[in-house]
Amino acid sequence: MSRLIIVSNRVAVPEAGKTAAGGLAVAVNAALKGRSGVWFGWSGKITDAPSERPEVSDHGGIQYAVVDLKEDDHQEYYNGFANRVLWPILHYRVDLAEFHRADLSGYIRVNRNFAEHVSKIIEDDDILWVHDYHMMPMARYLRELGHKNRIGFFLHIPMPPPELIQTLPRHGEIIGALADYDLLGFQTEGDRDNFGRYLESRGGQPTADGKAYDIGGRRVRVAAFPVAIETESFARRARHATRTHFVQDFKASLGDCKMVLGVDRLDYSKGIPNRLEAFETLLRTAPEWHKKVAFVQITPKSRTDVPEYGEMDRFISTKAGQINGDFGDVSWTPLRYVNRTYSRSALAGLYRSAQVAMVTPLRDGMNLVAKEFVAAQDPEDPGVLLLSQFAGAAAELGGGALMVNPHEIEGMAASLRRALEMPLDERKERYQRMMEVLLANTIDHWAQSFIDALTAPSRPDLPKSASRTVPVRSTPMPQVMGWHGLQRSQDI
Ligand code: G6P
Repeated sequence: MSRLIIVSNRVAVPEAGKTAAGGLAVAVNAALKGRSGVWFGWSGKITDAPSERPEVSDHGGIQYAVVDLKEDDHQEYYNGFANRVLWPILHYRVDLAEFHRADLSGYIRVNRNFAEHVSKIIEDDDILWVHDYHMMPMARYLRELGHKNRIGFFLHIPMPPPELIQTLPRHGEIIGALADYDLLGFQTEGDRDNFGRYLESRGGQPTADGKAYDIGGRRVRVAAFPVAIETESFARRARHATRTHFVQDFKASLGDCKMVLGVDRLDYSKGIPNRLEAFETLLRTAPEWHKKVAFVQITPKSRTDVPEYGEMDRFISTKAGQINGDFGDVSWTPLRYVNRTYSRSALAGLYRSAQVAMVTPLRDGMNLVAKEFVAAQDPEDPGVLLLSQFAGAAAELGGGALMVNPHEIEGMAASLRRALEMPLDERKERYQRMMEVLLANTIDHWAQSFIDALTAPSRPDLPKSASRTVPVRSTPMPQVMGWHGLQRSQDI
């Protein structure tokens, strides 16, 4: 039976009593559900002498195979090229990219090393699904090792226009290497079109139906697959969470204040400073809201070894302190800025308790906080979503959210006030519009449609040169060795 082999930087190995949380983890688990499969990636550990073989564990029929990284691999591949070059450029922040040749070499080295590990377990009829910007050239290296399997790739973050991609030195070896996949999935039509234009700039020819490109003797299909959530189970989780002590104590601490909520990993793409400034503008221009509103910004720290993240951390902490200093009172703290990580259930309860969520990134692939906030609402008294026009989620939720441009602080402050004062009928109507979308495209539907596209029985449009003829030697998986890797309870 053909297996699904997933490759991603992080692997959410199930831990007893814990549900896998982050967006990527939920998505990959949906893909693996009911299938026989392997999930391969980094263990989250850094060691001097990583084992030659992955550590493998088996949970519910899925094999989790993880490898450690050496310190220089972690610095060059993860902190360096993935998070100081690819992440900013793909989020349209070329100004923040710090390119070093050693980091590119480290990225290529780790990708090749992962490809060699994966190569040893691939059988002829396996299908492979590679996730996110850490692993872009994986298909190229697997093809070099002789694998003709179907290989798909999904980019969880934005794909900018070719003019920005071209600022990346040696972009052809990394972004151009995406053409070695059979299917490329993007979050939005805009991302897909940007990549199509990039392929054309490299001589790619679109097929007549516009769904694929011929390039370098291969055909690669490109499509948008907006990543989704487990809508119904998240709504249930939120209902149950409101009965917990955690949520009840939290609500009691708000008194009569309405709650505005922000939940983001600490990252410059999330637009947190702009959002705080919008809240500050509201407090300055609408004194009638003093002591009647509290802003809760939950921001787990992330990628703390990358200098730009440290700078942001200092800036936001200072700004938060200044807002409380300027507007707070002994009986009212306008802004609560929290760097903790909360469980999915706790977050679901907070979403349901909030009157407004501000999801206002400067650029975001999708943003699942927006979707989860909507799913968590009480249909009889739903909160309002303020959503950036630059989040991938805007393409689906734009009909029900209050759309904002995060670069216009006064506009965001006005929208925030409108959200706080919105009548129940309008809130219900907007909520229903968004829920319809979320119920129609669930995470299971997302995973299935990608796999269906990847495994479509005929590959009629594939040029002959890409037919599957070379036999691939397969090696049995190593035995279970136990693993205690880094687990994030959220990945936002
Ligand atoms: C985004 C990326 C994921 C990544 C996550 C957390 O959502 O698309 O691939 O895992 O951020 O970042 P981290 O660097 O901690 O894995």
